[in-house]
Amino acid sequence: MPVRRVHLSKDFLRTWWAWAALLAATLAVSACVQAQPATDGGDPGFPFGPSAIGAQKLAYVPDIKPILDRDCTQCHGGRESAGGYSTASYANVVAGQRPGDASGSLVVTTAPGGSMYGYLSGDRVTSATMIFRWMVYYNAAQTR
Ligand code: HEC
Repeated sequence: MPVRRVHLSKDFLRTWWAWAALLAATLAVSACVQAQPATDGGDPGFPFGPSAIGAQKLAYVPDIKPILDRDCTQCHGGRESAGGYSTASYANVVAGQRPGDASGSLVVTTAPGGSMYGYLSGDRVTSATMIFRWMVYYNAAQTR
């Protein structure tokens, strides 16, 4: 028995219910797509597990300075620069660090388990994640 090609006739596409069926199928497919977990490079859980920060660009002035001012500058400020590290200005914060690299002292000491992690207040994982991504992904950018 010969195989017959199935195709949509012009008459079929002219009927309203054909369009309704196409719309319903499209909605069903898009609902499935939205239900999938994110799999792109902006994984919100990297590298310290789930955190409250999304995949947006991070910069010193709007994102990192508030954390350092709040939790670090009392010991790493102008006159008191504990361990020879100062958080008094952008130039101080990035001095001796390695933008694009996770091996600098700021990222290492503020990562979970690091010697300064315990000084982070509030949601520590989110602050540590922000410092890491700012340094490694966004090359310690000063502004957005
Ligand atoms: C209570 C005081 C205090 C607070 C608050 C504090 N630190 Fe420290 N920090 C120190 C001392 C003391 C040292 C030097 C001894 C050591 O390495 O543990 C140090 C060392 C460091 C170093 C290593 C310097 C080097 O190159 O060896 C970095 C980086 C650092 N701190 C960053 C931070 C950050 C970021 C915060 C805020 C989350 C912070 N510190 C909060 C006291 C503090």
